Amino acid sequence: MSVLGGIALSFSLSAEPAPTLKDSLIRLSSNENAFGYSPKAQAAIVEALDGGSYYNRNDVADLVELLAEKEGVPSDHILTTAGSGPLLMMTAIAYADPEKNVVTTEMGYTQLIRKYDEMGGQIKYASLSEDMGYDFEAMSDAIDENTVIVYICNPNNPTGVLADPIELKKFILSVPKDILVFVDEAYLELTDKNFGMLTIAPMAKSLDNVIVTRTFSKAYGLAGFRVGYAVASPKIIDTIKPYYMGPPSFIAAIAAQEAVKDMDHMIYNVEAYQKTRAYVCDKFDAMGITYAKPQGAFIYFKTGIDQQELRDSMKEKGILISGSRESGVIPGKYQAWARVSIGTQTQMDLFLDTLSQLMVKG
Ligand SMILES: Cc1ncc(COP(=O)(O)O)c(C=O)c1O
Repeated sequence: MSVLGGIALSFSLSAEPAPTLKDSLIRLSSNENAFGYSPKAQAAIVEALDGGSYYNRNDVADLVELLAEKEGVPSDHILTTAGSGPLLMMTAIAYADPEKNVVTTEMGYTQLIRKYDEMGGQIKYASLSEDMGYDFEAMSDAIDENTVIVYICNPNNPTGVLADPIELKKFILSVPKDILVFVDEAYLELTDKNFGMLTIAPMAKSLDNVIVTRTFSKAYGLAGFRVGYAVASPKIIDTIKPYYMGPPSFIAAIAAQEAVKDMDHMIYNVEAYQKTRAYVCDKFDAMGITYAKPQGAFIYFKTGIDQQELRDSMKEKGILISGSRESGVIPGKYQAWARVSIGTQTQMDLFLDTLSQLMVKG
C-alpha cells in the first residue's frame, strides 16, 4: 500500500503481467515475457513511488555497482541505459562513417545495423550456415580494411540459433584489434546451455575491442521499465558515451536491482521459457514443421505459407506473430518462415491450434 497525496493505492503482487494492453490480441510478436517479472521487484517499486519528485536518488549508481559485482568487472566497465536498444544505436552513431562498414549476418537483429545505415555507413552481410547459425568463415571473409564493427547477436534474432562458444571465442580473437566486436546477449539467459560458458562478458573485461550488451526486457520481464547495460572497457564506453541520452529512471533502476537479487524468480522464468519452448518444438515436430534450433525467447519456423499472409491470418484470429527480416537476404529466401515468441502454455496452445487450421486451409 502506498499513499500518494492522500490517495491510498493498493497493488496486487503477482508474477503474471497485468492485462493492461488496450487491444485484446495475444502478443507473440515482440518477445515480451509472458511469465512476468519478480514480485519482489514490484513490491520495491511500490514502496519507492513517493520518491518520484527527485531527479536522482542514487538508485542508478547502486544498480551500476550491483551489475559490476554480478559481471565481475570494475564499475567503470558498466554503462546502463533505458533498455539495451540505445546502446546499439549509440554505438552505430559513434562509429558512423560513409567510408566504413559494419559486418554482420543476413537475418540478424537490425537496430544497430539500421542506425549505421541511416548514418550513411555501409553494411556487409555474411550468409548464415546451413543450420541458420553463424558462419564465422563467411564473417571473416566479409571483414575488410574499412570494417569498424562486427555485430553478433547471440542467440541470434530472429533465428534463435546459438553460436558454438569455442568457435565464437576463436573468431573474436581473430578479429583485428582496431575493429569493435559487439556481442548482443539480449536472450542469452534463456538458453538450455551453461550461461557462464557462453557469455562473452569476461572477454569484454580483458579486451579493449569487445562490448557485450544485456537487457532486463527479456528473461527478467522488465521490458516496459526500460533497463539495459553494456559491459565494456572504459575506452569503448568513452567512445560511445557522447551519444548517451540519459539513464534508466529510478523506478527502473530499483526494479532491475531487485530482479537481479531475486534468483528464484529468474530460475522460475528461465525454466518456464525452456519448458514451453521444448513443448512447442515437440508439437512442431509432430506437425512436420521445420524450425531453427531455438535458444531464445522465440522460435523461427517454416510453414510454406507466405509469412505476411500467415501473420495477417493469425492477426484475424487474434494472435500477433512476427515475420522474417529482409536485411542482407536474397529476396524471397525466407518468405515462408515466421517467428513466434514464447508465451504461456495457454497462449502457445491457441497459437498451435490456429496454425494447424491455417495449414490445413493452406
Ligand atoms: C537482439 C535484441 N537486442 C536488443 C533488443 C533491444 O531491447 P531493449 O531495448 O528492450 O533492451 C532487442 C529487442 O527485442 C533484441 O531482440
